[in-house]
Amino acid sequence: LREHEEFTKVKNIATIELGRYEIETWYFSPFPPEYNDCSKLFFCEFCLNFMKHKEQLQRHMSKCDLKHPPGDEIYRSGTLSMFEVDGKKNKVYGQNLCYLAKLFLDHKTLYYDVVLFLFYVLCECDERGCHMVGYFSKEKHSEESYNLACILTLPPYQRKGYGKFLIAFSYELSKEEGKVGTPERPLSDLGMLSYRGYWTRVLLDILKKHKGNISIKELSDMTAIKAEDVLSTLQGLELIQYRKGQHVICADPKVLDRYLKAAGRGGLEVDVCKLIWTPYK
Ligand code: ACO
Ligand code: ZN
Repeated sequence: LREHEEFTKVKNIATIELGRYEIETWYFSPFPPEYNDCSKLFFCEFCLNFMKHKEQLQRHMSKCDLKHPPGDEIYRSGTLSMFEVDGKKNKVYGQNLCYLAKLFLDHKTLYYDVVLFLFYVLCECDERGCHMVGYFSKEKHSEESYNLACILTLPPYQRKGYGKFLIAFSYELSKEEGKVGTPERPLSDLGMLSYRGYWTRVLLDILKKHKGNISIKELSDMTAIKAEDVLSTLQGLELIQYRKGQHVICADPKVLDRYLKAAGRGGLEVDVCKLIWTPYK
């Protein structure tokens, strides 16, 4: 598969149909060779099986009995639900999701074994079912303290705050685990923008409320954001001075206010009371 990608980096699938949307793709994705000759694919929005023809999809929809991602609903707030899908229990779904995601992810090689991952699929639900808006994947066991491998908001849903919600969710899971986490590198430009925005807002909110000194380590423990990411965020905002061999946070309230305003809207919040989840063992 990897060789296949290296030699044919041309984008093959130009558009996909998924639920109510027809979506233009961004990048190459290594679909099995029998799909090489088609420029459009039709996805079942629930099981993510993909087909070459509209008629096949229609036939499939009349017998597919899924109305939400396979797996456990671990969060519900209003019409928003999060499902946890185990790549081992739902291998085909995991693979389909990776094929789909790769269409919008450039730098990622998604050829890892889906059985090693959990997929957190965010849905907007209505009477027709739960419609995927985006997802992130997470290794069941990460040596590098990664709490997120890949993140995607489907294009029709982008710039509405779902990305920030997914990022916030990944850190809430880390807090439940009692660990700090960081996203797998490299980050795409859009990924970097979203993470910087999230880190900035979370850290500035704490600095604003906090009286007296606070260390990088304390900030990291409170937020589950890895210390390196705390440091780089605060350095980027020029809130760090280096005194007597130590990093010191210098947070003038006026400066904080200015940054907080610039950091923009907070967006969709994760309501932790509504998370029903225990860490993977
Ligand atoms: N132009 C400029 N800034 C943007 C854009 C854009 N098109 N999209 C997002 N941003 C920035 C903004 O600062 C935005 O905050 P704001 O709206 O308050 O200004 C912030 O990112 C987050 O916006 P959200 O609406 O919360 O994020 P969204 O739902 O659009 O999802 C995501 C962000 C997941 C990165 C999305 O752009 C995406 O799926 N991209 C394609 C896949 C990708 O690159 N994923 C990250 C790869 S890295 C990794 O997986 C570890
Ligand atoms: Zn289906």
